[in-house]
Amino acid sequence: MKKILALNGSPRTHGNSTFLLQHFMEGARQNTTSLNEIRTHELNLKNCQGCLRCNILKLCSISDDDWQELSREILESDVLVFASPIYFHYLPASLKKVIDRFRSFVHVQITETGLSHTPWEVWNKDFVLLLSMGSPDKAEARPVIELFEFMTSILGSSNRLHIITATRLAMAKQIIRTEEELGILYKKLNLPEELVKGDCAENNKVLLNCRGLGSKLSKLA
Ligand SMILES: Cc1cc2nc3c(=O)[nH]c(=O)nc-3n(C[C@H](O)[C@H](O)[C@H](O)COP(=O)(O)O)c2cc1C
Repeated sequence: MKKILALNGSPRTHGNSTFLLQHFMEGARQNTTSLNEIRTHELNLKNCQGCLRCNILKLCSISDDDWQELSREILESDVLVFASPIYFHYLPASLKKVIDRFRSFVHVQITETGLSHTPWEVWNKDFVLLLSMGSPDKAEARPVIELFEFMTSILGSSNRLHIITATRLAMAKQIIRTEEELGILYKKLNLPEELVKGDCAENNKVLLNCRGLGSKLSKLA
């Protein structure tokens, strides 16, 4: 049975990222019961101290927070989902904090031309990025996508990255609003009424894609 671990970076209880994730998990539930969602802002996690002792110890030297348990779950997962809002073209701090602690999963060496990364363990996972953003311009999520392209590659050439991006979402729960509800909201936000129909259809399509991806990645090969 596939193990799915999801890290949700939205601090909102009913954030759009949460709905993307909920649909992904519903799809995954068709094939597995091993599903775990963690809200990163609820974690007791310290910042990476940059001590670099992980390069020798092969694990993080901070032992009095949630990382030991979280890192074990990350390593055991088959599918690692990151659901997150875009904050200033990047990740919310709670999720970036988790990513920085990934430093302890790899040995890093300086070479003449750059840094060489070697993971302590063999990684062969599906990484999933479910991104929610206010802008209609997906380019604003590019820095996050580049970060994950980098992370998945340094953790092993067998990893796969899947990305779903949802746009023009300002308010909590917006992605699940009906056409009528979206019409009222767009009026308040001074957005053209002509956008409502297309955006509502797009939101539904994105949620469907999340469900489809969850179903696909949770199937045993
Ligand atoms: C601090 C902050 C920074 C944001 N920066 C961006 C941004 O750079 N680009 C963008 O498209 N949306 C930005 N947004 C909007 C959120 O990404 C958007 O509302 C998203 O749907 C929120 O997801 P959530 O409901 O899951 O929390 C920002 C929101 C906040 C609170």
